[in-house]
Amino acid sequence: MMLKLGVIGTSWITAQFITAAHRTGMYRLTAVYSRHAETAQHFIAESAPAQAYTDMEAFLGSDIDVVYVASPNSLHAAQTIAALSAGKHVIVEKPMVTHPSQLAKLEEALAAHPDLMVFEAARHIYDPNFHAVTDYIAHHPVTGATLAYMKYSSKYDDYLAGKQPNIFTTKTAGGALMDLGVYLVYAAVGWFGVPTTATYQPHMLASGVDGDGVMRFDYPDFGVTLVTGKTTNHFAPSEIYFGRTTLQTDTPGELNYLKLISAGQRTDITAAQHDNPMVSEARFFAEAITKNDRAAFDRQWALAKQVHTLMGQMRAATPIHFDSDPD
Ligand SMILES: NC(=O)c1ccc[n+]([C@@H]2O[C@H](COP(=O)([O-])OP(=O)(O)OC[C@H]3O[C@@H](n4cnc5c(N)ncnc54)[C@H](OP(=O)(O)O)[C@@H]3O)[C@@H](O)[C@H]2O)c1
Repeated sequence: MMLKLGVIGTSWITAQFITAAHRTGMYRLTAVYSRHAETAQHFIAESAPAQAYTDMEAFLGSDIDVVYVASPNSLHAAQTIAALSAGKHVIVEKPMVTHPSQLAKLEEALAAHPDLMVFEAARHIYDPNFHAVTDYIAHHPVTGATLAYMKYSSKYDDYLAGKQPNIFTTKTAGGALMDLGVYLVYAAVGWFGVPTTATYQPHMLASGVDGDGVMRFDYPDFGVTLVTGKTTNHFAPSEIYFGRTTLQTDTPGELNYLKLISAGQRTDITAAQHDNPMVSEARFFAEAITKNDRAAFDRQWALAKQVHTLMGQMRAATPIHFDSDPD
């Protein structure tokens, strides 16, 4: 079955997802929603033939099976609920929610449409190298980890120039934890489970979002440090420790290589990756939807809930407040 795909948002990430989706041979772009007709037409001309919409209701009412949501963070939960209410499956960019209270609302919408699925596009957890790490951990006791995902944002110069790019405002629920930190939380929870305690120490920007920060997760037998940021580039490797052996990668957000270092010996255990990092997730979502694999959906949903519950707990103890947060 070919899934008819509708997309919300017209930036480069939507184009990359459409390319990945088409590569799987399991989706066909059908509808593009933009706030502006010209933007939608231009996007369609640059990507693939589709119907352009500027009216959300008409877009959601059109002949599509699944909606990919790549709007600013603050809109994700509401647009996901609107798509579910219109009877569409949803693939929503990270972060799926910006406050844990939105999880209950999503669950309500899902309960009203038990045939539908919602997936968070946490692309790295579908990467073959993510699974390779999971497999290694299954057979070797972890003794700790230091994981980082920190990149100088292409929008930071605009921010420094006094503009208000979405990713640096509280209005759109931006900041380092929401944007790149969530990849690390996914990796830690996916690989090590839910920690006993979790804290986030952010460095705040004047706009009210975090420019960078450090999370500390404690587990009964080890501790994990997670470093995230949008205002500097981090080039040091990320590492998971197994006593005398260390598993090294560039960052859990990309996993371009995996290297085991033990007794002075280095062994490359990198798995083959797609050049487009969204192909694996696009295939996983399409297979789950077309085969109605509820077990696959339930697993991913449970993980997403754990991740966003933790994100909410950590953020509650910081000065990061979004305009959309409940009072
Ligand atoms: N998985 C990944 O690797 C990855 C990479 C990058 C981003 N992302 C995620 O993708 C999402 C979009 O990121 P982005 O950097 O593309 O964001 P963005 O450029 O700020 O916004 C994305 C799209 O949303 C629409 N939009 C912009 N501002 C809006 C506003 N104030 N109100 C309503 N709609 C607005 C625009 O589409 P129209 O003008 O056509 O309406 C725009 O193309 C984010 O949630 C981000 O976390 C994921």
